[in-house]
Amino acid sequence: MTVTIVGAQLGDEGKGGIVDLFGEPADVVARYQGGDNAGHTVVRDGQEYKLSLVPSGAVRGKVGVLGNGCVVNPRTLFDELDTLRERGLDPAVRVARRAHVVFPYHRALDGIEEAAKSDEGQEVGTTGRGIGPAYEDKAGRRGVRIADLTEPGTLRNRLEYVVPQKRALAETVFGVDAGERFDLETLYEEYREYGERLKREGMLVDSGAFLADRIDAGDDVLLEGAQGTVLDIDHGNYPYVTSSHPTAGGAATGTGLAPGVVGEEVVGVVKAYLSRVGGGPMPTELGGVTGDTPGYTEGEGPDEGVATRIREAGGEYGTVTGRPRRVGWLDLPMVRHAARTSGFTGLAVNHVDTLAGFDEIQVAEAYRLDGERVETLPATASEWAACEPVYRTFDGWADTDWAAVAREGYDALPAPARTYLGYVSDEVSVPLYAVGIGPGREDSVVLEHPL
Ligand code: IMP
Repeated sequence: MTVTIVGAQLGDEGKGGIVDLFGEPADVVARYQGGDNAGHTVVRDGQEYKLSLVPSGAVRGKVGVLGNGCVVNPRTLFDELDTLRERGLDPAVRVARRAHVVFPYHRALDGIEEAAKSDEGQEVGTTGRGIGPAYEDKAGRRGVRIADLTEPGTLRNRLEYVVPQKRALAETVFGVDAGERFDLETLYEEYREYGERLKREGMLVDSGAFLADRIDAGDDVLLEGAQGTVLDIDHGNYPYVTSSHPTAGGAATGTGLAPGVVGEEVVGVVKAYLSRVGGGPMPTELGGVTGDTPGYTEGEGPDEGVATRIREAGGEYGTVTGRPRRVGWLDLPMVRHAARTSGFTGLAVNHVDTLAGFDEIQVAEAYRLDGERVETLPATASEWAACEPVYRTFDGWADTDWAAVAREGYDALPAPARTYLGYVSDEVSVPLYAVGIGPGREDSVVLEHPL
């Protein structure tokens, strides 16, 4: 069978830990979208592994698949694989022949366009990994797929068509010196070699057929979403989104498995509060982050002290970029939207330990927009920015012996934390499957295991 793990918020919900927890009995872990913009941290035997492309299950001896919906930067892929090997692991990774390739010119253009947008205050705050430009080329039918790297003639033809266009875009439209990242011969030689290596190491698959065969043979497959619902290009807060589909529908199109197959069990991962990297509205934001929070002046946001405390306690700094994340109270209209969009069958709520020690915890149970009560996410960024949170206040919970809670189970959680969790689950009508109370997979309470 399958279980799909989806971020219910804005990424960084702690999906890596839940993938690790629920993926334990799985044989295969597949990613279905995104690329090296993702950042997941897996803790194994006290060792921390920070990955951005290799599926986190590969640290645990599972087969990791990068599905056709992913955009793959081969430099990052091989850097990560080489580092894992140096640390004594032997990760088995397969890459879909239909996945698209991220080239250095994609990264360059990501930065160039963000800089141009920032002149108008319109930057998205991307991770700078070239993700948007790579998906643009995929949709524009001028992309290079992973399988093309193994056919030198095809690779050369495609690069001959696309590279001069990209160079002209950089130089003529944006007025930036293009440089080596747009040099056809250098790119051709380097990427042809990646194709050789992918072939030599037996990494290439048709992801749909590969996964379906494994399921038919009785294997359990976990589908690992990157980013989160509100970063989905359709269901997110456009244009402050990534360029793929982190929601459960993406698990079907991004692997080649049918919707009914990937929809069997869909676990929505929720952080007990909210964090955001990059620009865009965030109605429940506390404090602010210079450069990301619209109109923010350092030290003058609401509840700066609460923000700093959550940011420090939760380690809210980007895995990929290291930049401070924006933080805020849990936003239920967002979680309702996520539950509907992906058809969550279970919830995993993380970072319950991070909120310990506050006298009171707030949750936005709804918004007020133009005098009306709104219970789900509005379609446009401007409407969302105009939403005022309607807060419900809960008693906080004291710091506790979380290791003991992990051993003893749900009833050992502080009573106010159980009240809070029960409320969230009831509001979105989705049962609670797990509660995260620390970084490792042992730091969790499991109420129901989907596999
Ligand atoms: P991109 O995916 O690099 O194009 O960035 C688009 C938006 O998605 C930006 O707001 C990023 O901060 C955000 N984003 C991309 N990947 C992640 C992630 O793994 N966690 C959180 N935010 C992300």
